[in-house]
Amino acid sequence: MNLRGLDKSRLPKHVAIIMDGNGRWAKLRGRSRTEGHRRGKASVRAVVEMSRKLGISYLSLYAFSIENWLRPKDEVHALMGLLEHYLVVEQPRMMRHGIRLLSIGDRTRLPASVLRTLGKTVKATSEKKGMTVLLALSYSGRDDIVRMVRKIAHKVKEGSYAVDEIDEETVSAHVETQSIPDPDLLIRTSGEMRISNFFLWQIAYTELYITPTLWPDFREAEYLQALLEFQRRRRRFGLTDEQLAPAAASTETGEHQDHP
Ligand code: IPE
Ligand code: IPE
Ligand code: MG
Repeated sequence: MNLRGLDKSRLPKHVAIIMDGNGRWAKLRGRSRTEGHRRGKASVRAVVEMSRKLGISYLSLYAFSIENWLRPKDEVHALMGLLEHYLVVEQPRMMRHGIRLLSIGDRTRLPASVLRTLGKTVKATSEKKGMTVLLALSYSGRDDIVRMVRKIAHKVKEGSYAVDEIDEETVSAHVETQSIPDPDLLIRTSGEMRISNFFLWQIAYTELYITPTLWPDFREAEYLQALLEFQRRRRRFGLTDEQLAPAAASTETGEHQDHP
């Protein structure tokens, strides 16, 4: 893969992806939705391995939302089967590539065999230091926040926290992502302009990248485009351009004056 134009020193530390559009990909081809999900697995492998090669530290993948449990039983069943198969097939590759797998979301709703397989992969890869893949399964951003509130409330009740001590750091430490830095870049495929209950607290200052490409078609070249676009963004975090880089900002002001 030709990575020309990519600045390896300015890569996002944490990329999060809403992997959407498998159903539409299949429909366009007169195939079953399951076939779309099956194809999506190759895209997962592509972004995981490319992230690892580039040296991205954290990759969060939204694979199944809490709301997705309401889909037709057959589709949910097929997705769970594919997920288990993915874990079985990918575990040796993860081991080889130094990838640690973690899962977030309400695991209690996962079928027992998926839970077992997931537990095995998480355990087997727990010492890997190359990259962390965070698999969001049965995840809901709001549920994450509700559970964070409960955890903190319990600690207050037990006396390990004073109410006035609760700050942003406390909240960050009690959502599921815990010590993992917030995503720098959030990618959504299939063109939908929404978050669909993925990370809420964590994306306060995340750069958003939405592409019409459907997930099964999102491979290395598309990922590279997203990373290049990320590097063209100017992250101000509420500051002014002048505060960030006085020299660069004055050139930009000059340009703006040409177009009143
Ligand atoms: C994303 O693709 C996969 C999951 C939500 C599990 P979809 O299945 O949502 O595909 P579309 O949005 O119907 O095309
Ligand atoms: C979001 O996609 C969830 C995942 C990609 C896992 P959906 O297809 O469920 O989102 P909506 O329903 O279009 O918002
Ligand atoms: Mg969808």
